[in-house]
Amino acid sequence: MTLELDLIGHTEELRASPSQNVRQCSFSLMFLDFGMESPQTPGSLFSLDALFDNPLFAGGIGLASLGAAAAFARKGATVALGAVRRRLLVNVEISKQDPAYPWILAWLSQRRETSGFITSRFTRIHNLSVTTTTTNNRVHGVNGPMNASFFLQPGYGRHVVKFGNAFIAVNREKHSTANMNTGEPHEIVQLTTLWAHRHAFEGIFAEAHTLAAKANEGKTIVYSARGMDWAPLGDSRKKRPLGSVILDQGVKESIVTDVNDFLSRQQWYIDRGIPYRRGYLLFGPPGSGKSSFIQALAGELDFGVAMINLSEMGMTDDKLAYLLTKLPKRCLLLLEDADAAFVNRRQRDADGYSGANVTFSGLLNALDGVAAGEERIAFLTTNHIDRLDPALIRPGRVDMMLRIGEATKHQAAEMWDRFYGEEDTDGNGRERFLHRLEELGLFGKYADGSSSHRHTSTAAIQGLFLFNKTDLQGAIDMAEGLIPRTFEADGGISNEKHADSTH
Ligand SMILES: Nc1ncnc2c1ncn2[C@@H]1O[C@H](COP(=O)(O)OP(=O)(O)OP(=O)(O)O)[C@@H](O)[C@H]1O
Ligand SMILES: [Mg+2]
Repeated sequence: MTLELDLIGHTEELRASPSQNVRQCSFSLMFLDFGMESPQTPGSLFSLDALFDNPLFAGGIGLASLGAAAAFARKGATVALGAVRRRLLVNVEISKQDPAYPWILAWLSQRRETSGFITSRFTRIHNLSVTTTTTNNRVHGVNGPMNASFFLQPGYGRHVVKFGNAFIAVNREKHSTANMNTGEPHEIVQLTTLWAHRHAFEGIFAEAHTLAAKANEGKTIVYSARGMDWAPLGDSRKKRPLGSVILDQGVKESIVTDVNDFLSRQQWYIDRGIPYRRGYLLFGPPGSGKSSFIQALAGELDFGVAMINLSEMGMTDDKLAYLLTKLPKRCLLLLEDADAAFVNRRQRDADGYSGANVTFSGLLNALDGVAAGEERIAFLTTNHIDRLDPALIRPGRVDMMLRIGEATKHQAAEMWDRFYGEEDTDGNGRERFLHRLEELGLFGKYADGSSSHRHTSTAAIQGLFLFNKTDLQGAIDMAEGLIPRTFEADGGISNEKHADSTH
């Protein structure tokens, strides 16, 4: 009776709005269901038995418990898997900040011979990223396309590689956080293998390091400050042979001997409680080969060069001190323009503002303060020795000072031999060249012995030879160009020769 009524009621509504009524219809049927059962179980309308006897409710409960069981099982499986992973697997995480990061990526990208059908399919890397380097060399002649090389690395994501018998799972990830100094996002590479194969990691790191060392063989890495960190400045460059820098007799030898002696005496310093540091100051006019010599010396010792320009904007006392405490290993520290710190001091005296650069006391503290780094070979260079303060040039900060001066006759002769030695076998050209330079008074005096007050630089001689690569006579004829020129404020260039022609 009720059923009929209700259904009738609903059929009416159904006509009015079909979608809404389907829901209502089912609800009323459910209600009816209760009503029909109630006479057999007198008492409470919501008795538990009645609830469980209801197939819909029981079904719901059944489903819910199944779901809960599944969730529980899943959680249990995750925990168990985690425990198994911890017990059976071993993980190594290498972050991008670590020097080994590029080595491992390079190691991962090398070609591998994999035996077996399944292994070779399993260990394929499907996701790659590319680093492209272009060179100025062209492929075919002058108008050919630019030479480019592509370096493929495993991309972000998971890969599997095989090392010996061990399968290594690799996961390269980019994080959403970034390095505060460089703004680069954090990155990690995670290597995972079975606990039983954990020793594979030693092998992998050793191989990756050998690979990196081989790539840098015969090269000098130059580091510069990037933010508060040291970073390689461009690609590592070919080592400059020490023989290619021509200094006056004995100068090169004295520095090389001193550095080698220092390097062999680490224990001696430790035994005496002296900080294992040595400082050199090279001073002299521009273009005399100071920077070139330090670069060549680094190559000779198989060291890198960590370079800081003291006059660089943004280089502050704090930053300098911090950078000096965390110098890259096996590096010569090169502080160019050491006088810049003193100029700043003077500016501060004059107008109370020192710019954002290193101050004199900042430099002294970085070199020799309480927080100064241990183990260091520092080279300072300057064109203005007169601007330096005696405090800088005391042992502990600077232990050895050398003037790398204007070109001498000895240097000019050696440079000639390096450039034209093969053509000028009898040395006749060299004699004529040297005679011409003496005639021009470029070694400080004229041929008759009177003072000329005139010098030239080795850089200028190199420039002359580069201009006349295979033309010996051309170099001799153009030697006049070695006379230093003075630049007038109004833009005119006067050759010193005119001023001197009255001589
Ligand atoms: N004594 C030298 N032997 C060989 N090459 C030299 C010499 N001096 C200068 N040169 C050449 O001249 C160029 C400039 O030299 P470098 O930069 O070393 O001079 P510098 O003394 O550091 O000058 P600055 O004081 O201006 O920094 C280089 O290309 C270098 O090859
Ligand atoms: Mg220099």
